Order: sequence, then structure tokens, then C-alpha cells
Amino acid sequence: MAEWTLITGASKGLGAEFAQLAARHGRKMILTARSADLLEAQADTLRANGAEVVVIPADLSDLAEADRLWAEATKDRQVDFLINNAGLGSHGPFADPDSWDRELSSINVNMRTLTRLMKLAIPPMQTQQRGRILNVASTIGFLPGPNMAVYAATKAYVLHLSEAVAHELRGTPVTVTAFCPGATQTNFFDDGDMHGTRLLTMTPIADAAKVAAAGWQAAIGGRAVAVPGAMNAVFANLPRLFPRAITTRVSGLFLGK
Ligand SMILES: NC(=O)c1ccc[n+]([C@@H]2O[C@H](COP(=O)([O-])OP(=O)(O)OC[C@H]3O[C@@H](n4cnc5c(N)ncnc54)[C@H](OP(=O)(O)O)[C@@H]3O)[C@@H](O)[C@H]2O)c1
Repeated sequence: MAEWTLITGASKGLGAEFAQLAARHGRKMILTARSADLLEAQADTLRANGAEVVVIPADLSDLAEADRLWAEATKDRQVDFLINNAGLGSHGPFADPDSWDRELSSINVNMRTLTRLMKLAIPPMQTQQRGRILNVASTIGFLPGPNMAVYAATKAYVLHLSEAVAHELRGTPVTVTAFCPGATQTNFFDDGDMHGTRLLTMTPIADAAKVAAAGWQAAIGGRAVAVPGAMNAVFANLPRLFPRAITTRVSGLFLGK
């Protein structure tokens, strides 16, 4: 059976860039997100260029949908590259009661579904003796994130989970990569109400295609953790260089408006 790449959050942003990379590398792919229309439009363009693409729309804030997605994706197909890219965040004080719905959705998509898909993907990859998992975390996963407290915590989870499982799988042909980009030009800031934060006004915003290419390379190379860009490496290392209270203050400053 031919092998496939499954890309979550493929309707836009980094996920759409991962789909283009998959096509460029001659990979067959399964694209998922909620926006069926965007996925189909993207699939049509990729197919016109010769790629084999299957679209399976799913709301990944619902754990049952993650199971349905995996069952459909792997019916008559083997997935040997899982790109856990779907994710969302929200900006504002944790105490705001109105932020709960979006925070809960970010917990469900960023952590629960990502974990479930890893859990479903790894055993068959072990059987096939071949597999790559790319988990899109974030530079903020290295730090507490005042004003994006829940989002930052979900990405710390992704980082730690990925590193731990990568360690368990060391020496095998199945690898897990925690990819930790910093601010990148996608729809993420619009949807997460992040415009005006110092992060966006004071630091450079990376190009999504370049960031996705760095993630792809890191996963193919089997790296456990990858942080693209010098500035992001500085942020990621703050907890090693300064006391936690100072790290949190710096992070809060950049995430503040
Ligand atoms: N942009 C940045 O600065 C940045 C930095 C570090 C890490 N990241 C991470 O990069 C990943 C991709 O984000 P992005 O920057 O490309 O943002 P984006 O343009 O907003 O894309 C997010 C993707 O996630 C999907 N998604 C959101 N909620 C979903 C749900 N309930 N079910 C299924 N799919 C869902 C969206 O599709 P639908 O809306 O169609 O469902 C979309 O395809 C995320 O994990 C994000 O945390 C981004």
C-alpha cells in the first residue's frame, strides 16, 4: 500500500504550506480542518499539479472526530507521516469568563486531539518500521504566557509530550518532532485577537512558507525539538538563563498590548 501524509489544520496558514511541501516532495496526502470549502479549493490546486489528495473535513475539538478522521484516513491507506498542525489560541486575561469557549477549544484541539492522533498513528508506524510525526508546538511552549496563559500551557504540553515520546522511540525508525516556531504570518493573529501585542509590533514576523519548510526538514531529519530562527532560540532559552519570575515578566511584556 502506498504511504500517505496526514496534515491537520490544512485549510490555511502553516497547514496549507505543509500541503504544498508534501506535493513538492511527491507525497500523497490527506488534508483535514473544519473548512471543507477551503480544503477542497486547496486540493483542486494541488491535484491540478499532479498530487494525490484526499479531503476529510473534521472538527478536531471533538475527540470522537479525531477517531473518525483516523479511521477514514487509514481505510485502505497507510499514513507514515502525521503532521499535527491544527491549533488555535486566544489573547486576553485568563480571568475573562468569555474566553472559556475558545480556551476549551484550544485545549481540545492542541492537546487532546494531537495526543489521540499520535496514539493512533504510532503503533502502525512501528509495524511498518517507518514513521514521522511532526507536532507543531510554539516558542511560547518554553515559557509561561501571561495574556495567552492557556495557549502557552497547551504548547508546553505539546513540547513535553513530544520530547518524552521521542525519547521512548529513540533508536527506532519512528520519530516525533516538536516544532516550535515564533510569530509567523498566518491567520492565527486575526482569529486569536493578537493584533497590537508587542510580540507583533516589536519582533519580526516570519514567512509561513519558510517556517513550514524548516518544520518539514526537522521532521524528516528526525529531530526531537526544532526552534526556527535566532530570536526564537533566545526566547526558548530564557528559562535557562534567568529566574522564572523574570522569564514570565519578559514573556508577559511581549504578549501584552
Ligand atoms: N502563526 C504563528 O505565529 C504560530 C506560532 C507558533 C505556533 N503556531 C501554531 O501553528 C499551527 C498552525 O497555525 P497557523 O499559524 O497556521 O494558524 P491559522 O492560519 O489560524 O491555521 C490554523 C489551522 O487550524 C485549523 N483548526 C482550528 N480549529 C480547528 C478545529 N476545531 N478543528 C479542525 N481544525 C481546526 C484551522 O482550520 P479551520 O478553521 O478550517 O478548522 C486552520 O487550518 C497551530 O498549532 C499554531 O498554534 C503558530
